Order: sequence, then C-alpha cells, then structure tokens
Amino acid sequence: MNLELRLERPEDYRRVEELTREAFWPFGRPACNEHYLVHLLRKVPAFVPELDYVAVDEGKLVGNIIYSRAKVVDSEGAPHPLLTFGPLSVLPEYWNRGVGRALVERTKILARELGYPGIVIYGHPDYYPRFGFRNAEVYGITTPQGKNFDALMALPLFPEGLEGISGAFYEDPVFELDPDETAAFDQGFPPKEAAQMIPVEILLAKVSVAAGEAIIRRGIKDLAAFRGYSGREVLGWEGVGPADLAVINSVLREEGLPEKLLPSSPILAGRG
Ligand SMILES: CC(C)(COP(=O)(O)OP(=O)(O)OC[C@H]1O[C@@H](n2cnc3c(N)ncnc32)[C@H](O)[C@@H]1OP(=O)(O)O)[C@@H](O)C(=O)NCCC(=O)NCCS
Repeated sequence: MNLELRLERPEDYRRVEELTREAFWPFGRPACNEHYLVHLLRKVPAFVPELDYVAVDEGKLVGNIIYSRAKVVDSEGAPHPLLTFGPLSVLPEYWNRGVGRALVERTKILARELGYPGIVIYGHPDYYPRFGFRNAEVYGITTPQGKNFDALMALPLFPEGLEGISGAFYEDPVFELDPDETAAFDQGFPPKEAAQMIPVEILLAKVSVAAGEAIIRRGIKDLAAFRGYSGREVLGWEGVGPADLAVINSVLREEGLPEKLLPSSPILAGRG
C-alpha cells in the first residue's frame, strides 16, 4: 500500500459516497445512511472543507473523514463551538491497515492548527481511545438529553482545550436524516443485497446463562451490535464476568469483528 492523504475534490464526491456506502453497508439494515449524510454534509454551513480528507492508494480512493462544526451548550445556555467528525469510512478490503488511523491523526493536527478547542464524537468506544478520545463525561459533556455512555467521546486539541466547555453536545441538524429521502438517495446506487447479520445466538450458546440473559436484555440481536458498547460497559452488565468477555472476544475475533477492549488495555491508560 502506498497511502496518500489529501483534501477531497469535487470530482471525488461520488466515489467517496460509494466507498462510504461500502464501509457502512455491513452494519445497516436494510441499507446504511452514511453515504447520504456525506452527500448532505458538504452543502451545509457547518461543513469544514479544510478537514475533508481522503486516503488514496495508487490512485484508488480508500478512505474519507469529514468534519463539521458542532457545539456544547453550557448550563447558562452559552454555546461553545468545537468540532465533530463522521462519517469516517475505510473500504472494507483496507480495514486494519492503518488508513483510519492516518486520517484521524492527520486531521487532528490540522484541526488544532485551525484553532478549534476540541472534538466531540459519537463513535466506536473501543476504537477512538487509541487517538486520545475519552468518555465525554470526563469533561462534563453529555448528550442533549443529559446522557453519557462510552460511545460519546471527547478530545481536547490543546492541553486545556476543553477547560470550561461542559454541557450538552449538539451536532448540526443535518445529522437527523429523513429515512425516505435516504432510501430515495440510495436508489441512485447499484443494487446491493442487505447485509447478512451474524445472529447473537452463536454467542449465547457459549457464554454463561446470566451473561446470555444480560445480552438479551440489552436487545442485542446480532454480533455487530457490540460495536456500540465498550468492553468496560459490557463488563458492567449484570451477569457478565471477565470469562464471558473473553468468550465474546473470541467469537468476535472468529467472525472477523473487532474485539472489545479489556479495562486493563494500555490503550485505555489515562482514561478518566
Ligand atoms: C472503523 C474504521 C474507520 C477503522 O479503520 P481502519 O483503517 O480499519 O482502522 P486502523 O487500521 O486505523 O486501526 C485498526 C485497529 O483498530 C481496531 N478497530 C477497528 N475497528 C474497531 C472498532 N469498531 N472497535 C474497536 N476497535 C476497532 C482494529 O481491531 C485494529 O486494532 P489493532 O491495531 O489492535 O490490531 C473502519 O473499520 C471502517 O470504515 N468501518 C466501517 C465504518 C465505521 O464504522 N466507521 C466509524 C464510525 S464511528
């Protein structure tokens, strides 16, 4: 692989939407919506063109990261501007080869140079800590409903970047996609069979009864659903012990899905 990172150009737009669709397809039912989000994001004032980067291998577009301005509204109602990113997409045949890392690391530096105080995202809670993201709770940042979970993460871009920035996190309204419009947009792409989800039953047969009940209580129906929870959170479910997490990880690994991080992972060192 000979990876080059550069700004997205208008002539890349369609291909980037296609690769976004490929990246998210395995997780969407009946189709994913992120390619439509990319399509809309570039047109809203919150879009940050200076951070819209693509990864190219020998002329082939293999990844994209797209940023938009967001805000944290404090208890007095004062808005604090900062950044969010997403979708972050890598073509499946390029997964686990450092493309995602390269896109995040490069744009983090550029975002700092642009003077933004920090980045808040909803994302895979066991992926982004490797880039310094921590549960946004550490900074007193919650969802608009006042909720916290490990998938809501924040990263200051300067040592005290998020000092004094706490409250409710709001993305641009463009993130609220209309399902009918999304489906109509997807019609413009080649037909694709709905992704085959791996049923959770193959895991339920292997974990303890109590852990199985906890997984069912969470409404988890397929293995991909684990990507929304951190290993720490899964261990916090009543009935799930370290031995169960080890089984969950071995099943995820067998199925080619990323494992949950153990709370002892060095990647999480320093997490509040
Ligand atoms: C998530 C994604 C962007 C990662 O990009 P990538 O180029 O494959 O990742 P990198 O090569 O930089 O990093 C690979 C490492 O991250 C881990 N990883 C990848 N996805 C992960 C996830 N969802 N959760 C936890 N860890 C993950 C891999 O296991 C690997 O770990 P290792 O270094 O210990 O072996 C890519 O898999 C993708 O496009 N997925 C589909 C779309 C998506 O989910 N986007 C992110 C939305 S928040």
